[in-house]
Amino acid sequence: MSAEDRTPARSLGGRFTEATDALLERINRSVDVDRRLWDQDVRGSKAHATMLARVGLISADEAKAIVHGLDAIHEELRTGAFEFLPSDEDIHMAVERRLGERIGAPARKLHTGRSRNDQVILDTTMWMRDAFTVLRDDLDALIRLLADRAEQGVDAPMPSFTHLQPAQVSSVGQWLCAHAAELSRARRRVGDLLARLDESPLGSGASAGTYLPIDRQHTATALGFTRPTLNATQTTGSRTDVIDAIGVLATTGVGLSRLGEELVLFASPAFAWLKLPDRLTTGSSLLPQKRNPDGAELLRVLGKLPAGDFAALASAASGLVSGYSKDLQPDKTLLFRSYDNTRDAVSLAALHVDAMSWDAARMEAACGSELAALWLADRLVLAGLPFREAHHLVGRAVRLGQDTGGLAAGFAAALGEHPVDGGEGISAELAGMTPAKLLAGLRTAGGAGPESVRAQIQALRGA
Ligand code: ARG
Repeated sequence: MSAEDRTPARSLGGRFTEATDALLERINRSVDVDRRLWDQDVRGSKAHATMLARVGLISADEAKAIVHGLDAIHEELRTGAFEFLPSDEDIHMAVERRLGERIGAPARKLHTGRSRNDQVILDTTMWMRDAFTVLRDDLDALIRLLADRAEQGVDAPMPSFTHLQPAQVSSVGQWLCAHAAELSRARRRVGDLLARLDESPLGSGASAGTYLPIDRQHTATALGFTRPTLNATQTTGSRTDVIDAIGVLATTGVGLSRLGEELVLFASPAFAWLKLPDRLTTGSSLLPQKRNPDGAELLRVLGKLPAGDFAALASAASGLVSGYSKDLQPDKTLLFRSYDNTRDAVSLAALHVDAMSWDAARMEAACGSELAALWLADRLVLAGLPFREAHHLVGRAVRLGQDTGGLAAGFAAALGEHPVDGGEGISAELAGMTPAKLLAGLRTAGGAGPESVRAQIQALRGA
C-alpha cells in the first residue's frame, strides 16, 4: 500500500472518528472516470451560484467571486493544468476543493441547497446532450458518405441474400443504402433521446428537496433545459435516461456491426467482391500471404459491445430502493465506454466505406441464372397464373435446370411437362435475361431498381 492510499480523505468530516478504510476509499473514488464531466460540472456550478445570489442565499459579490473562480478552474481543467489530489473523491469535490484554494470563504457557500446526488445526474445529463449532439453529426456524415458511394453503385448488380443464400438481383447502391437507412433510423433515435433530455435535475437535493428558497426553473433555463424534473426522488435515484442512452448506442451498434461483418465477408478471397486498402488491413506473424481485415472485424465487435453495457446498467439500476444508492455510480463507466466504442465504430465504418473498392464483374457474375426465379414467377402471374402455381412451376424449372443449362433450359423442360398460355414468349424473354435487366425491372419504392435507389439517395441526403 502506498502512502497515498493511506491518506485519509475526510472532506465531509464532522460525523466521523476514523479515516475511511483504504480499500473502500480506493473503490469508492470515481474521479478517474467522472473527471470527464469537468466542463458540465463547472457550468452547472456557475448556474447554481448565480441562482443562489438571485434568490438572496448568497451576496452578489460572493456569486461573482465564485463564478470568477470557476472560470479560472475551467481554464485549468481545459488546459490540463488542474491538479487532482488523492483526496479528491469525485469531480464535484475536486472542483469545490480547488475553488476553496482559489477564492477562500465564498467557496464554502457554493454547495448550498444542492447535493452531489443531483449534481452528478445534472452533469451526466448535460454530458449526454453534448456528446449525443456530436454523435448525431458523425452519423449524418456517415449517412451522406454511404449515399455518395451508393450513387456509384446504382447500376452495379449484386446478389441480395436471405439466410446468406442468393435471393434476388440487387445492386451495390441498394446494399449501401440499406446500411444508410439503418443508420438514419439510429440517427432518429439519437434525436429522440436528445429531445427527451429537456428537464434539469439540479435542485433535487439529496432525495426530497431542500428547505432553502432555491429557484429550479431559473437554473433549468440558464442551462438550456425547458423545465426542472418533476420529482426529486426519482431524479436522483434513477438512471433510466442513461440506460436509454446506452440503448440507443446498442441499437446503433447492431447496424454498424452488421456492416463490419459484410466488409469482412465480402473482402474475403472466397468472395473477393470488395477490396480494402493496405492501410485498413494487417499481416500475420506466421503466414506471409495473409492480409487480415482487422479494421472491419473491430467495427464488427465495437458495434456489439454496448448491448452488454446496456444490460449491465439496466441490471445495476434495477431492484434498488427509491433514491440514490452507490450502485448507480458505475453508470458513467458504462456510458462513456459505450459512447467511445460507438464513435470509434462510426469512424471505422467511414474509413472503410470511403476507401473500399468493389469488383463489379465478380459481383455480377455471382448473380446466377436462378436469380431470375422471382421475375419468372411474377411474369407468369402477369400471364394469368395464380402465384402458387407459378411458384411451383418455377421451382420445378430451377430443379430441372440446376445441373445443365440453368433456369432457361429448365423452364423450357418444365413447359414441356406443363404447357402455359404464352409460355414460348416468356421462354424467349428469359433466354435474353441479364442481371442488369432484372435490376431495371424492379420498380417498387424501396426496391433495388435504379429509380428507387436514386430516390432513396435523395431522401437520405435530405434527412
Ligand atoms: N460519485 C458519485 C456518483 O457517481 C456522485 C454522487 C455521490 N453521492 C453520494 N451520496 N455519495 O454516483
